[in-house]
Parts: sequence; structure tokens; C-alpha cells
Amino acid sequence: MRSLIDILDFTVEEVNELIATANDIIDNPDKYCEKCKRKKLATLFFEPSTRTRLSFESAMIELGGSVIGFSAANNSSAAKGESVADTAKTISCYADIIAMRHPKEGAPLVAAQNATIPVINAGDGGHNHPTQTLTDLLTIHREKGGFENLTVGFCGDLKFGRTVHSLITALSRYSGLNVVLISPEELKLPSYIKKDVLKKNGIPYKQTTDLESVMPELDILYMTRVQRERFFNEEDYLRLKDSYILEPKKLNNAKKDLCIMHPLPRVNEISVAVDDDPRACYFKQVLYGKYIRMALILKLLEEAEK
Ligand code: NCD
Repeated sequence: MRSLIDILDFTVEEVNELIATANDIIDNPDKYCEKCKRKKLATLFFEPSTRTRLSFESAMIELGGSVIGFSAANNSSAAKGESVADTAKTISCYADIIAMRHPKEGAPLVAAQNATIPVINAGDGGHNHPTQTLTDLLTIHREKGGFENLTVGFCGDLKFGRTVHSLITALSRYSGLNVVLISPEELKLPSYIKKDVLKKNGIPYKQTTDLESVMPELDILYMTRVQRERFFNEEDYLRLKDSYILEPKKLNNAKKDLCIMHPLPRVNEISVAVDDDPRACYFKQVLYGKYIRMALILKLLEEAEK
């Protein structure tokens, strides 16, 4: 059974197909409005979410399907001690496809190993978030026309930010990528990603604590929230939470066609004054998330029927 647990579960060609389908859905929504008639998506969210869960749900509804699920662990039998494996076996009796978010790294993989329907990883702890990455790739593709020869700056919590981990991994497959890692010392990209993704693929990268000094180089600036829920103590969070605040004046020396992205939710790291800058792409990103998830649901359900 085909699932999406890690972005590398899909080949570059498959990612391109998903982007093409999403673009076709944007242009011809009526063509898709009954594609998932009588199909059910189960959203199993053991961690908070606004965009990911609701974009999955609206994606399925716009495909003519329906949605069941829960939005917090304490609303489910997990609160009684049920295992992820048993939950996955149970939901396989009710639904056709699962989107699961869980605070434990690897939980969606365990679900996929036990379910008889496709499982989509909607974020597992500080590990991966492949559907945010598909969203990001669609955004980059629409804004920049492709993925080659881009200098991409990742700023903020690169240690716990799962969206950063998955996006770096996805972009590592395209030529001419340059990565700029901007974070406080304590929130640097984990060394396993530097080794297994950046060094292994010969991708040039540099690390800095200073956003403004690298701003002129960037084609894309991917801002992230400091992930409070992953910290071991509140003092560290309070000390680091406002390390970077993007304000209009900091964009003075940025490229005219810079694309500013953020998976959202934002806390303080992008001033609302930046929202009116034509380079701010983060709310377009939200919209694209729905379309790429429509394409993803279609693909996995088609494969499940083979
Ligand atoms: C991200 C996540 O959950 O990892 N949000 C999202 O899915 N759009 C980023 C975050 O929570 O900071």
C-alpha cells in the first residue's frame, strides 16, 4: 500500500506530476469535484493544527468526498492508552485514506505499517512534514517557475522545525541549489541532515546567525517559528523566541523578486507590516496547500485501487 511518510517516498517525476495536477485543479476545479465521491478521509490529529488539518478536510470535500476524524489526542482512545498500530487498524475499517499528525517521530510510519489504507504523514514531532513540503514546492514552482539554481535561506528554528527538514531534503534533488542556514547557535540544523542530505549530495551551504548580512543573496527566504512545544525548558524558549523578527526595513537590501515563505503559524518572526510587500508569499502558500493535498489524495487513492 502506497503511503507518504517521507518526501523521498515520491520520485522527482511523481512530485512533478503532483504539481501538474494541482495546477490543473486550480485552473479547472469543476473537473475534480466528484473524483472522490463516496470516499472518506480520516484526519487523526494528535497535535494541534489549523492549516494542515483543515486544508486536508477542505481538499477532500472539494473532491466530493467526506471526512471523519479527531483533532486532539484527548478526543480519541489514545487517551485510554490505545497504540498507534491499533488505531490505524481500526480506522482502516472506516475510511479510505488517513492523514495523521503525531508528536512522536515515526508514529505515522507505524500507522502505515499497520493500516490497510494509505497513510499520509501530516507532521511527526520535530522530524518531517512532507505535505507542507509539497505545499512549499508548489509555491516555489508557481513563484519561480522551477527549482533549479536557487539560493534558499532557512531562518529560525532549524533544529526542531520539521518543515525545514523535509524541504531541504526535497530541494536537495535539484541542481544549482545553495542553502543558507540562519539560526541561533542552539537551534542549528541537526547534524544528521547536514551529513545525510547536504554533504552527501554535495550541496553548498553556509551557517550564520545574521539574517541581514545574507539577505541580498537570497531567492527564497523561508522563515520559521521557534517551536515552543519541543523545548525542554521555558527559559530557553523565552531567550530564543524573538531571535529573528523580519520587518520591512530588513528587506531593503533583498532581491526585488525575493519570495518570502513561512509554513505558518507565525508568532513574532514576521511583522504584519511585511504582509503588504509583494514578496510576501505565505498566505498564497496556505491556498496552494489545499490544491496540492487534493492532488495527493487523488494519487494515493488511485494507487490504492490498482
Ligand atoms: C508547521 C508544523 O506544524 O510543523 N505548521 C504547518 O503545518 N503549517 C510549522 C509550525 O508549526 O511552526
